[in-house]
Amino acid sequence: MDHSFLVLVLLVPCLLCFSSALETIGPTQSLSDGETLVSQAEVFELGFFSPAGSANRFLGIWYKKIPDRTVVWVANRDNPINGSPGNLTLTASGNLVLLSYSSDTIVWSTNTTSSKPMSSSVRLLATGNLVLQDGSDPNSEVYLWQSFDYPTDTFLPDMKIGWDLKRGLNRHLVAWKSPSDPSSSDFTWGLELHSYPEAVAWKGNHKYFRSGPWNGIRYSGAPEQKPNNLFWFKFVSNEEEVYYTYGLQDKSVLTRNVLNRSNDAWERSAWSDPTQEWKYYSSVPKDKCDNYNFCGPHGYCDMANLGCQCLEGFSPKSPDKWAAMDWTQGCKRDKPLQCGDKVGFKKFTNMKLPDTTSTWVNASLDIKACHEKCLGNCSCTAYTHSDIRASGSGCALWFGDLLDIRTFSDGGQDLHIRMAASELGGDNGNRLKIAVAAVVGIVGALGMVFTIYCCHRSRTKSKGETGEKGEKEQKNEHSGEDMELPAFDLAMIINATGNFSANNKLGEGGFGPVYKGTLADGQEIAVKRLSSSSGQGLKEFKNEVILIAKLQHRNLVKLLGCCIEGGEKMLVYEYMPNKSLDAFIFDDKRSYLLDWPTRFSIICGVARGILYLHQDSRLRIIHRDLKASNVLLDKEMKPKISDFGMAKTFGGDQSEGNTNRVVGTYGYMAPEYATDGLFSVKSDVFSFGILLLEIISGKRSRGIFRSNQNLIGHAWRLYSEGRPLELMDPCLEDTADSSCKFSEVMRCIHVSFLCLQQRPEDRPSMASVAVMLGSDGPLPPPKQPGFLIDCSDGPSEADSSSGKLLSHSINEITISLVQAR
Ligand SMILES: *[C@@H]1O[C@H](CO)[C@@H](O)[C@H](O)[C@H]1NC(C)=O
Ligand SMILES: *[C@@H]1O[C@H](CO)[C@@H](O)[C@H](O)[C@H]1NC(C)=O
Ligand SMILES: *[C@@H]1O[C@H](CO)[C@@H](O)[C@H](O)[C@H]1NC(C)=O
Ligand SMILES: *[C@@H]1O[C@H](CO)[C@@H](O)[C@H](O)[C@H]1NC(C)=O
Ligand SMILES: *[C@@H]1O[C@H](CO)[C@@H](O)[C@H](O)[C@H]1NC(C)=O
Repeated sequence: MDHSFLVLVLLVPCLLCFSSALETIGPTQSLSDGETLVSQAEVFELGFFSPAGSANRFLGIWYKKIPDRTVVWVANRDNPINGSPGNLTLTASGNLVLLSYSSDTIVWSTNTTSSKPMSSSVRLLATGNLVLQDGSDPNSEVYLWQSFDYPTDTFLPDMKIGWDLKRGLNRHLVAWKSPSDPSSSDFTWGLELHSYPEAVAWKGNHKYFRSGPWNGIRYSGAPEQKPNNLFWFKFVSNEEEVYYTYGLQDKSVLTRNVLNRSNDAWERSAWSDPTQEWKYYSSVPKDKCDNYNFCGPHGYCDMANLGCQCLEGFSPKSPDKWAAMDWTQGCKRDKPLQCGDKVGFKKFTNMKLPDTTSTWVNASLDIKACHEKCLGNCSCTAYTHSDIRASGSGCALWFGDLLDIRTFSDGGQDLHIRMAASELGGDNGNRLKIAVAAVVGIVGALGMVFTIYCCHRSRTKSKGETGEKGEKEQKNEHSGEDMELPAFDLAMIINATGNFSANNKLGEGGFGPVYKGTLADGQEIAVKRLSSSSGQGLKEFKNEVILIAKLQHRNLVKLLGCCIEGGEKMLVYEYMPNKSLDAFIFDDKRSYLLDWPTRFSIICGVARGILYLHQDSRLRIIHRDLKASNVLLDKEMKPKISDFGMAKTFGGDQSEGNTNRVVGTYGYMAPEYATDGLFSVKSDVFSFGILLLEIISGKRSRGIFRSNQNLIGHAWRLYSEGRPLELMDPCLEDTADSSCKFSEVMRCIHVSFLCLQQRPEDRPSMASVAVMLGSDGPLPPPKQPGFLIDCSDGPSEADSSSGKLLSHSINEITISLVQAR
């Protein structure tokens, strides 16, 4: 670095400071309102402040260089100074005392006894820890008192959350009541000192979230947490202390964890210097399944299947309530257990370990002894390793009901649950799971090798191949054999479509015209034909074949086969007699055919379809072109997502990509995708948000509304003016109304705004969306949505695109094709 610059940097603060910033407070010295104590390295600052919207004065610590004051600690949170300046003094007896000046009352104080009061001092360390030192050695790490022992709502690097057992000190977090009131709310977070400790968040006297016990590597409920090169974390448990702590590898990064009452979450964020804002990058609860005991005793929560299931061998205690998605009662054993019955254990995998309130742990028992121990005690219901490092060690036993269990698609732990011996025969469930995993693994590994697996001439027709089958069986169909798509003869297709007669043309798909056809046996099909003239669209064609051949879901359009013959390339789909969604919702007359219950079931179906795409374990798929014209309707008006020409796959860990070729449809594109080419599952979530608004309002997203707003702006204005229901398609008002309908509509509007957030990380995952739609729990408040990128050169015509199947109306034609022309 240039030396003159260095000198300047060192000098400037000193020229500016007229002794209002101190470095230490010595005996009998004081800090009055207006003065601050600055930390080593000038990271933090201690002083008096009033939160926005409040006149009360508090003594607090905040980041010195962050313009919008971010407070990390408050001394007198429950005893504000009102109306007169405060004064912080280090008394002659060596205590730090906060006085309210006018009344001379003690507002707050440290209660310590110093052996050398006249040489003690107060400093703010670079970590943000305010320390009271005994004696004059500034390097001493022996503190009479430190603010890190009394956290407020913020967990900073190097802080400890947990217990000092010798002093009976429980370092825990308590959220502010509101952004303008730092006083203690009823939302707390701390470590519970069971035999198998875990972090627990409480709201009042309700348990709200638990981390799961520490399993030697991480909390059992956070399988995604891996050792990384950004920060380290550790859990210490011994006779003297039980705590969790973390720290940054790069100390120049500012990061914090805050317990936030506004959204009832524990949020981890880091300061971004370039954008001058806090970037939130994780929070818990991370999804519905993290809500404490969401599924009741012996139920488990599974995001992949959207909700609660009973553990194998258990059934809903109250089947009616369970069917109505009221899961709180949980599940009971199919075969009740009596002491003395023949019992064994069934192994469940990928679990978050159940509540550990009454769990017993012995770290020196091995798994065999653990099994024996549990077997020998009638009230023991489950056991597992207490530590998963290496091949596992230690023993944890559960007694009584198993509460707050969830599963993870990746990670999680084994749990051995006590069962009547008669329930154990064969262990079918697990074998099925393993088989599925193996098959999916093989497909994942070989996926791309099968590029031209299409069209094995082994079969000529696929009718009746896949009936109504369970999800698991369907997954099993992704075996190598099923990758061979049935081939259709060109002659047969020419015959079926009347030689591609104009009468049979249904519309234009992503890469060519689509025709309706009728096979000799009467089965109706839709044929998507790649224009043979040029190489155009070949890429999309291949993409679609590769992806859709691997997908089976009731809310995705089914590919029956293909035909590559004589220079022709065609895909054959099941025929959708009701065409596409846009043909209904945007049409004056046909929109009356879609009443609210039908629209709501379409919404839920599309959500399930997208969720399947996003979460299909190894093969994550981002559709990238979700819109009303790509949602087809079968004869029962069940929705099926179509057109995978633009879709992208991802490996399990990758969730975001970047492309310099933006494809998709204006009017549905997420801001970060349209402008930066950044796409992720969250860009599909954005498109889904648009689709929701369109289904509710019957208006196109690019239509122009009052004061030149697009649909999002229009909807947001109505919402913020307190009349969101005015967004509803007028034709819905006539259909038998009920408050239930309105609450559903309201909920959908609310969810759509959450999906339409400007920042991808603020949008819910599709799994959360599906859960939000399917339950009536509280929703987080939406912030103003991101605006719609509109590069159009005028309002879109409000035409009806009825009569099109697998089609794009002209004004919405997929951009890559427009650009290719
Ligand atoms: C703060 O309190 C101390 C001790 O009572 C006193 O000596 C000092 O003058 C006060 N400072 C101000 C600014 O009132
Ligand atoms: C510390 O001092 C305050 C004020 O004098 C008092 O209210 C509080 O009970 C004391 N706390 C402890 C732990 O002694
Ligand atoms: C708490 O959450 C609200 C709503 O998301 C947000 O506005 C606020 O900044 C958060 N507070 C903190 C301290 O992060
Ligand atoms: C844990 O198990 C070991 C080995 O069986 C035994 O010696 C020890 O006493 C046990 N500890 C507790 C707390 O039960
Ligand atoms: C079974 O375990 C429970 C809980 O630890 C204990 O209270 C009970 O005494 C044990 N029963 C037997 C028979 O060991």
